[in-house]
Amino acid sequence: MRPKVIVGNWKLNPPRERGTQLFGEIVRGLAARAPLPRGVEVWILPPTPFLALLDPGVEVSLGVGSQDISLCGYGAHTGEIGGELLREFGCGLTLVGHSERRCGGEGDALVAEKAVAADRTGLIPLLCVGESEQERDAGETIAVVERQLAAVTGALSEERPLWVAYEPVWAIGTGRTATPGQVIEVHRALRDALDRGGRNGSATPILYGGSVKPDNAASLLGSDEIDGALVGGASLEANSFLAIVDAAEA
Ligand code: PGA
Repeated sequence: MRPKVIVGNWKLNPPRERGTQLFGEIVRGLAARAPLPRGVEVWILPPTPFLALLDPGVEVSLGVGSQDISLCGYGAHTGEIGGELLREFGCGLTLVGHSERRCGGEGDALVAEKAVAADRTGLIPLLCVGESEQERDAGETIAVVERQLAAVTGALSEERPLWVAYEPVWAIGTGRTATPGQVIEVHRALRDALDRGGRNGSATPILYGGSVKPDNAASLLGSDEIDGALVGGASLEANSFLAIVDAAEA
């Protein structure tokens, strides 16, 4: 069985003092649960300035990652933050293609380049895919996520690590969660597409994201097809985030 991966995406939250406190609460909560069973992995993706402040210590297994990556290496690239620098600040993975960035104009080709940049600099790319409500209503869900996936698998060598998060756009930050059945259907299609592309779909972690909360986490994470959760809003409260970690352990 694949291990469960719980990733907290803080987005542009919270203010400095609260973020430092929240991180401490999560570290203490994980320390109290250590060691996490069955290889449950927990990651936090804070806004970049926090990376310099947050020190998980040695006693908990908590990874930190980035919400985005620049294509640039060190150099005269004003405003960019590249993978080498993220690695130096302890990042082990980065999101690529989050829908909030796709809405800002990032297309499949740029997302694929970012996945390659992540891999080149030693970060695991966690590719976000997902359909809009309109696309779901039009019956295009599988075609959309397969297209988003194919852009990246066409650019990244088959043997390189790739994690995927299925995040239906209509479920992000809305309080509407996809049902386990809806998620499983998409995850299976993604695994088949990975297999067809020469990757091992059954060895690829595929997470679900979109209004994951303590009260729906167990039903989603109870499925062997759902390898974890990408959690936005509920990752901003230690108790709710840790309750989702507990649901992964169950
Ligand atoms: P949400 O966000 O849990 O607040 O819906 C998920 C995400 O955007 O990754």
